[in-house]
Amino acid sequence: MIIEPRMRGFICLTSHPKGCEQNVKNQIEYIKSKGPIEGAKKVLVIGASTGFGLASRITSAFGSNAATIGVFFEKPPVEGKTASPGWYNSAAFENEAHKAGLYAKSINGDAFSNEVKQQTIDLIKADLGQIDLVIYSLASPVRLHPVTGVLHRSVLKPIGSTFTNKTVDFHTGNVTEVSIEPCTEEEIANTIAVMGGEDWSMWMDALKKENLLASGATTVAYSYIGPSLTEAVYRKGTIGRAKDDLEATAFAITDSLKDLGGKAYVSVNKALVTQASSAIPVIPLYISLLYKIMKAEGLHEGCIEQIQRLFQDRLYTGKPIPTDEKGRIRIDDWEMREDVQEKVAKLWLEATTETLPAIGDLAGYRNDFLNLFGFEFEGVDYKADTNEVVGIESIA
Ligand code: NAD
Ligand code: NA
Repeated sequence: MIIEPRMRGFICLTSHPKGCEQNVKNQIEYIKSKGPIEGAKKVLVIGASTGFGLASRITSAFGSNAATIGVFFEKPPVEGKTASPGWYNSAAFENEAHKAGLYAKSINGDAFSNEVKQQTIDLIKADLGQIDLVIYSLASPVRLHPVTGVLHRSVLKPIGSTFTNKTVDFHTGNVTEVSIEPCTEEEIANTIAVMGGEDWSMWMDALKKENLLASGATTVAYSYIGPSLTEAVYRKGTIGRAKDDLEATAFAITDSLKDLGGKAYVSVNKALVTQASSAIPVIPLYISLLYKIMKAEGLHEGCIEQIQRLFQDRLYTGKPIPTDEKGRIRIDDWEMREDVQEKVAKLWLEATTETLPAIGDLAGYRNDFLNLFGFEFEGVDYKADTNEVVGIESIA
């Protein structure tokens, strides 16, 4: 079978096992090139198969020789249909970790469920004893609530009034104006239920109750702020309310970990092309302008560079972890630099279908998007027949 990208809207229906493997190998090489990090040795990553979570797992394993358990929700390959990219990424990660003599096991299932939490607890008990770092990196449009049985759906909408601004269809390069109607109160509550902090605290409570957190255990969840350009639809929209809730939850978790000397943090990360962010209106146009500026200034980072810097320069320096006035770790510092934001805001006014190819990094956006699915990697023979189905042995 020759696997090619098959696009439908904001998603790609196919993914390339060899390309996903190459993606993971590149990230591992990057981490090795940056030298060791005095980090955690037993790490649980919830949302470990793509984006920031995958980068966190790779950084822990190949930066600090950590044993890792990864939890994610991915589709295995079936006859005539490729797996989801996170499935291939995780297969490749496990192969590389095992080759390096590192413990690595994965659980593929709904992290919001009691069953997957219990499976994870059993695995930690059997294999690792206690965990010293929990990374919480879920991005999901839905959550089946484990107590009420309600299926919550998140929405990406402004609050209070209609938001109108430019957006780009990054496949065609067409810049148009988009209007998004404001949400209802119920939609705010649903978005908080999916992307807020409740599930994070459920995980931490469950682990603590079973005595599976080491003394001084740390947990980190990821957030985003971004510029005033995207504020109405992001930080001051429904998703922003969920992030406010997530950030508040960090303090509650820290309280609950006091007797262990443990601590919960939120790290505010940079805007990057992921499956989640491509679906948010306005954000792809912002990212394509941001990439252009940050690349020109030598400030560009992908997920792995962000997480490497988070671990090496923030979490594991041996000194207190620097935070902003709201207690958040800021690794979006380069994105939010005043000079960078000024330049992006100026380009924003100029952006049209005609100007964008020159003033924005649409090519970089598309390349990163295809990379998410294992396409467009150097060193991969995309013309070769890919019959091989890579297995993740330890997945339950
Ligand atoms: P992603 O889509 O690449 O990764 C999401 C992960 O969650 C995957 O491993 C997926 O398998 C897993 N997942 C989703 N639903 C699940 C479920 N029900 N059970 C188990 N696993 C499930 O997303 P990402 O962009 O890496 O986002 C991770 C976090 O980082 C999110 O909180 C996001 O808001 C935040 N963030 C993203 C950006 C950005 O620009 N992409 C910037 C800052 C912060
Ligand atoms: Na992730």
